[in-house]
Amino acid sequence: MTKRVTAATLAKAKAANEKSVWLTACDTTSAQLAELAGVDVLLVGDSLGNTILGYETTIPVTLDQMIHHTAAVVRGRSKAWVVCDLPFGTYQTSPEQAFETSVRVLQETGCDAVKLEGGIPMAETIRFLAERGIAVVAHIGLTPQSVKKFGSFKARGKNPAEYDAILEDARAVTEAGAVALVIEAVPDELAEAITETVAIPTVGIGAGAGCDSQVLVWHDLLGLSEKNPPFAPAYTNLREQITTAISAWSNDVKSGAFPK
Ligand code: KIV
Repeated sequence: MTKRVTAATLAKAKAANEKSVWLTACDTTSAQLAELAGVDVLLVGDSLGNTILGYETTIPVTLDQMIHHTAAVVRGRSKAWVVCDLPFGTYQTSPEQAFETSVRVLQETGCDAVKLEGGIPMAETIRFLAERGIAVVAHIGLTPQSVKKFGSFKARGKNPAEYDAILEDARAVTEAGAVALVIEAVPDELAEAITETVAIPTVGIGAGAGCDSQVLVWHDLLGLSEKNPPFAPAYTNLREQITTAISAWSNDVKSGAFPK
């Protein structure tokens, strides 16, 4: 039987100073391919609002959309841990709202954990969920669902007040019972300080090499995005390869060379 990755597996990896690998996935095929390549955690991030659904931000993403994609990812995994982002507006009202949303996600998709954005203001909610048996991944630093408040997708924690506040966020969500912590777009030394301070595994994106794990967005890693963020180099150029293949087939259709 395939041994499933669990929150305990990730905690053990941190203790052993071994890096685990996280990658976003939105459908069954991407889940299967990522697993074949050795990915430990499949994150169904609400960035699918940008990469799959064509929105400018993650704010319009709905719970039904997240459930639809997460269930597809779960159908494609055999051992990876699957985490589903709770979309904007489905958990911030109260711990009870977050619990009801998480129950729907867990029951309707079969995934393993939920992720939510926010530090100190979300600590009470994280505690409420954790005390009721839900594995919660917290997400701090640049939290894209708050883009309208921040005014941009720029890195956070560059001035001393924000640096200290993000460190406090990390402490608060850990103390509240989060099982892992995504740290997005903060200075390398801050992510490193958080990783040394908290007992739970940290997962960096645009936060340097000092985190316990790294996560990237599927479309960025594979060269499918129109433009990558500076911290996310594409490891291949699928956008070009796909258009080349489609146009070769299209030319063959037009010339009569397809079908043979
Ligand atoms: O939505 C997402 O893909 C994420 C990652 C960027 C961490 O939250």
